[in-house]
Amino acid sequence: MNNFQFYNPTRIVFGDGSIAKIKKLIPRKARVLMLYGGGSIKKNGVYLQVADALRKHDLFEFGGIEPNPDYATLMKAVKMVKKNKIDFLLAVGGGSVIDGAKFIAVAAHYQGEDPWDIVSQGLGSIIKKALPIGVVLTLPATGSEMNRNSVISHREKGEKASFGSEKVFPKFSVLDPKVTYSLPKEQIRNGLVDAYVHILEQYLTYPIGAEVQDRQAEGLLLAIHDIAERALQTDPPDYVARSNYMWVCTNALNHLIGVGVPQDWSTHGIGHSLTALYGLAHAESLAVVLPWLLWYKREQKQEKLLQLGYRVLDQKSQKYSERVDQTIEALAAFFHSLGMPTTLTAYGLDPDKVAEEVREHLERQDFVRGEHRDITAADAAEILRLSR
Ligand code: NZQ
Ligand code: ZN
Repeated sequence: MNNFQFYNPTRIVFGDGSIAKIKKLIPRKARVLMLYGGGSIKKNGVYLQVADALRKHDLFEFGGIEPNPDYATLMKAVKMVKKNKIDFLLAVGGGSVIDGAKFIAVAAHYQGEDPWDIVSQGLGSIIKKALPIGVVLTLPATGSEMNRNSVISHREKGEKASFGSEKVFPKFSVLDPKVTYSLPKEQIRNGLVDAYVHILEQYLTYPIGAEVQDRQAEGLLLAIHDIAERALQTDPPDYVARSNYMWVCTNALNHLIGVGVPQDWSTHGIGHSLTALYGLAHAESLAVVLPWLLWYKREQKQEKLLQLGYRVLDQKSQKYSERVDQTIEALAAFFHSLGMPTTLTAYGLDPDKVAEEVREHLERQDFVRGEHRDITAADAAEILRLSR
């Protein structure tokens, strides 16, 4: 196991009826800006619950943060923060709203010329100051509610990139499983797949004697297999399954299972280009890359693929020599069982054309990822060509 430090200061407030508790979690004298997306919170009652809990606070609001939050939209919120002397951000939404809040929190204090530099030049580590953030999570998927990452899109430049900083860990995140009742099945499917891939990015590399992290990762993967079908049930929704769905997504990317182990993140890097260029939802972009990337790297990842197959995907009986391929197939079959396609062609995209366009896109970013830092833009193109 590699040396590591672990730090995660986010308070989690979990359970039915928890939104009312934000009243005591946000300082009474704070000037609060509630950030939200395209309006789902106005239809499902979450907006009213938040407004009611904060009726004695100075509350401002900024809606319209789109999925894959756009730099231009977020900069409008930064203006509002400055104009109204906002000193607390409350993100009410999924990964896009939370990531947007993290960007606004640092951009509001940024002294340089253009806050986009924080993202494009990876300046997260030098950030000294950010506004405090609280979260009411409405879509379990990204883990952003308990991590230091933020992924921002710049539509004008055709880019999507991330930054990380300790300063943007949320102070608290409220996780009420009942807020997931208004999610369309497709979003639940996306959340389950995103969490699954987060776990594999930190697990499916090479063995390093990290038994604790391996078993934690496998436990989370098995939990996803156990609850997926029930979590997708809508009529009526299953509270217990939704609770586990919510908590497993948080645990998949709150940095705990990733301590002291090699990490990959190339599926995410390639996926971000697919979202920027073709508008695939984040989880959709991951599912059309991962199985092919694993096949492309099956020799380097062989030991962990065998372990995953044996311990999680029930690949025990076949001949040892066949088990790696069977494991990758079982993984793709699990995604299919959730209704998630695993090929570019399923979206009407031509893999050869996509491969070339993504290669150029990634070359511009000097893309290098993978646990051995050996997945380049050219490899990404080879991987995408297989996605048919
Ligand atoms: O905008 P509204 O109207 O609220 O609708 C949203 C949005 O259209 C809807 N939604 C959210 N909660 C709902 C709901 N609809 C009904 N009922 C509810 N309770 O869901 C749609 C998608 O929301 P979004 O926040 O975009 O989804 P997600 O949570 O998957 O976030 C995706 C973004 O997070 C980034 C992705 O790249 C993408 O930009 N990621 C962030 C990470 C992080 N910070 O650690 C890691 C991830 O790997 C990921 O890259
Ligand atoms: Zn993800």
